[in-house]
Amino acid sequence: MTLESRDRWVRAAQGWEARAEQMARDTMPVSARLVELVRPQPGHTILDLAAGLGDTGFLAAELIQPGGTLITSDFAPEMLTAAQKRAPQNVDVRFKQIDLSTPIDIQAASIDGVLCRWGYMLLDDPEFALRETRRVLKQDAAVALAAWSGPDDNLWSAAPVRILQRRGILEPTPPGPGQFTWADPNVIEDTMATAGFLEPKVEAVNFVMRYEDVDDWWVAQTQMSTRTGDADAQLDFATRSDVLAELEEAAQPFTQPDDRLEIPARTWIATATA
Ligand SMILES: C[S@@+](CC[C@H](N)C(=O)[O-])C[C@H]1O[C@@H](n2cnc3c(N)ncnc32)[C@H](O)[C@@H]1O
Repeated sequence: MTLESRDRWVRAAQGWEARAEQMARDTMPVSARLVELVRPQPGHTILDLAAGLGDTGFLAAELIQPGGTLITSDFAPEMLTAAQKRAPQNVDVRFKQIDLSTPIDIQAASIDGVLCRWGYMLLDDPEFALRETRRVLKQDAAVALAAWSGPDDNLWSAAPVRILQRRGILEPTPPGPGQFTWADPNVIEDTMATAGFLEPKVEAVNFVMRYEDVDDWWVAQTQMSTRTGDADAQLDFATRSDVLAELEEAAQPFTQPDDRLEIPARTWIATATA
């Protein structure tokens, strides 16, 4: 599972890099809230897990100067290479390959705050990863994580998949970990508590995903999801036209007078202390 999953994320890295500016801009409210919750201070060591292109941790990097260190981690080396290109200058950022399905190779009780945006719910055993997170955190230090709420709250991602699934181009979503596995916030709280975290709290953050037009929306999904990208690569011209026509219909409620799209997004943000 990890190998298949890593292969997918390795392949996705290029697409994520292509969409980096849009993602960083649109998801800024989420990063900002996560960073606020770990309360970074000068001299702190902050760990960003499943960091992708690293933007959430990079937001904390300046706040821990002077003397602080940011550790940006992911299990896909290609994500880390892309993140390196986006790292702020003049701050101490270390890049480390960490696979959250294995023990974290960091000393116990050495980290002042952990960030993980849209990572844990993708794991086969998120409780194990949270236990490891707790082990590396200093006592009373915080983890702040993001996990998507349900597909109906996130049509920017769910609508294209549904169109492909209705047409039999994509398989129905397989059981097991995925984007919406933690749509129920009770699951997040329970998993954090079972992993030993104290007083987990969950809140919602609503924000907006913005696309130039329907084509841009489609391209974004094919770039950032290998499943959608692989499906798109197999479409003949006529089928792709039909899919885009359906997407255009789905886009109507979100289409602005200048054709740009503003599609609502919603995530849970959870925090707890070690
Ligand atoms: C949805 S992306 C989120 C990336 C980034 N945190 C963000 O919010 O933009 C999920 C990230 O988790 C990473 N990932 C998936 N499974 C992982 C694992 N077992 N260990 C570490 N990273 C993993 C992927 O490589 C990918 O970069």
